[in-house]
Amino acid sequence: MVYSVKTFNNINQVGLKELGNQFQIDGDLAENPDAFILRSQNLHGIDFPENLKAIARAGAGTNNIPIADATAAGIVVFNTPGANANAVKEAVLASILMSARDYIAANAWVNTLSGDDVPKQVEAGKKQFAGSEISGKTLGVIGLGAIGGRIANYAQRLGMNVLGYDPYVSIETAWNISHHVKRVDDVKEIFANCDYITVHVPLTDETRHTFNSEAFALMQKGTVVINFARGELVDNAALFEAIEAGVVKRYITDFGTEELLNKEKITVFPHVGGSTAEAELNCAIMAGKTIRRFMETGEITNSVNFPNVHQALTAPYRITLINKNVPNIVAKISTAVSELGINIDNIINRSKGEYAYTLLDLDENDKTKVNHLVENFENSDNIVRVRLIAKK
Ligand SMILES: NC(=O)c1ccc[n+]([C@@H]2O[C@H](COP(=O)([O-])OP(=O)(O)OC[C@H]3O[C@@H](n4cnc5c(N)ncnc54)[C@H](O)[C@@H]3O)[C@@H](O)[C@H]2O)c1
Repeated sequence: MVYSVKTFNNINQVGLKELGNQFQIDGDLAENPDAFILRSQNLHGIDFPENLKAIARAGAGTNNIPIADATAAGIVVFNTPGANANAVKEAVLASILMSARDYIAANAWVNTLSGDDVPKQVEAGKKQFAGSEISGKTLGVIGLGAIGGRIANYAQRLGMNVLGYDPYVSIETAWNISHHVKRVDDVKEIFANCDYITVHVPLTDETRHTFNSEAFALMQKGTVVINFARGELVDNAALFEAIEAGVVKRYITDFGTEELLNKEKITVFPHVGGSTAEAELNCAIMAGKTIRRFMETGEITNSVNFPNVHQALTAPYRITLINKNVPNIVAKISTAVSELGINIDNIINRSKGEYAYTLLDLDENDKTKVNHLVENFENSDNIVRVRLIAKK
């Protein structure tokens, strides 16, 4: 069996090696591939190829992918959570340190000097760049996932008091957060009590404009706001007013729009938070491994639209189903199997929202019978995707 993968955005070759020999990458089969691997390629508005079963985003955010459409088409969307978290953590820590000392402006000023007496001019003018120290200051972290959790831990080690807000934090992530990080139940506590606030949540209807005029109204004067998550988390009109009023001392973001550029109190980076050689490699390796595992075993890890589903394949055949999450579906699946006189070796069904994923392992060696069952499932109303995987 040869699987076909189409890649976008120059995915790291070392990561693609994780796919192994059974995958043809960007070859003649890529017209109608089994999987996409991409970074920022915008998939909104495209027609999915008929054969497409999986999309792996080598990165964390998946706003470039129409998730609901993919789910309805029976396509599993994966991301690589945490693979670039260390890179973003370092960029944010640098931003905190930079805003405390205004290194960029200081450097720009020194470069304006000339003449034999530059050292003298430096000594005379450096007062304007006296900064502050971050030790003892309070940092608020909104979103304590892979990135936010790491920042909270490291900022605390740099001597900062850290407040964290995340009502949905996973147990796994929560275990890794230092007990010195104070968890708050209301985001208003972050807005009201911090010298620095950094945000690390996905962009959703709930999080859009997390920083709005109500949020800025709660902040103390001179707050630094750092946004390496998504531009739309901040209401720019409200931000400009908060800067004007001296509430926001500096806004540092990784997401530029024209209105943010060339403003004295705004520092914009060109979406480079996760752009390190190490992160790019980690993301590509993780995406490659995830797609390989899914295509070869049907198991799902790190999907944004389907639950994690793991089960060792010991039976001769496995059928994977993506089905609508309707009552009695598991009973109907079992009945369809038994009607053909096939025994179920193992079945696992997990749902997420309106859809569910089923791994159905069959204690049956007769390929004709198994193919018949596959056909029956393909003709069932509530089943949107059927795959047959043979044990190697
Ligand atoms: N600048 C970059 O280059 C770059 C790189 C990677 C990720 N990102 C952005 O950073 C975001 C976070 O990445 P991550 O790897 O930490 O993701 P993650 O999924 O590990 O963490 C996100 C956290 O946000 C929390 N959350 C969700 N809704 C929330 C809410 N309303 N209030 C508070 N917390 C909430 C979740 O519980 C989770 O713990 C991504 O969604 C992406 O948009 C940017």
